Amino acid sequence: MAKKVLIISTSIRPNSNSEILANAFADGARTSGNEVELISLKNKTIDFCKGCFACQKLGHCVIKDDANAITEKMLNADVIVWATPIYYYEMSGQMKTMIDRANPLFTLDYRFRDVYLLTTAAEDEAYVDEGALKGVQGWIDCFGRLYCSEGDRGQYETERSF
Ligand SMILES: Cc1cc2nc3c(=O)[nH]c(=O)nc-3n(C[C@H](O)[C@H](O)[C@H](O)COP(=O)(O)O)c2cc1C
Repeated sequence: MAKKVLIISTSIRPNSNSEILANAFADGARTSGNEVELISLKNKTIDFCKGCFACQKLGHCVIKDDANAITEKMLNADVIVWATPIYYYEMSGQMKTMIDRANPLFTLDYRFRDVYLLTTAAEDEAYVDEGALKGVQGWIDCFGRLYCSEGDRGQYETERSF
């Protein structure tokens, strides 16, 4: 079945390696019959999360910049693909900032169940992307647990202490 695939390319470098990877992934996903949208964080204004938690009541962030439209696209995607350069053995700051700003999704009925991570780095040792993988896994764990079942949802909502 065709899925809505959202690819978020997070490097803001012109002709970036991660965007090349993102485009290759997009081509493959389209060839497999999926509906694919690729967006880049280049030329976007995405401020830091203030940690105010207003999003948990409002369902959207109070900061008015480009993150809200991207979060809306994430809400409606079946598959989310992050493409990032490795910066100091971690995901890029741009990517982490966008993940934080997508916090409104936490209480919303988001559709995505599959998350992919595409990384590019100067070094080619296998461990180079471990930090980024761990970070994305942490994000998935928070979201995954919330939607296991109603019982788990209540449990984790009370146990969560950001
Ligand atoms: C601030 C910064 C930190 C970086 N840290 C690492 C690193 O820890 N390990 C590594 O292999 N490459 C590192 N790199 C190199 C980039 O990951 C690499 O050039 C990558 O291909 C850039 O991707 P892009 O073209 O999509 O921006 C770093 C680059 C920058 C600018």
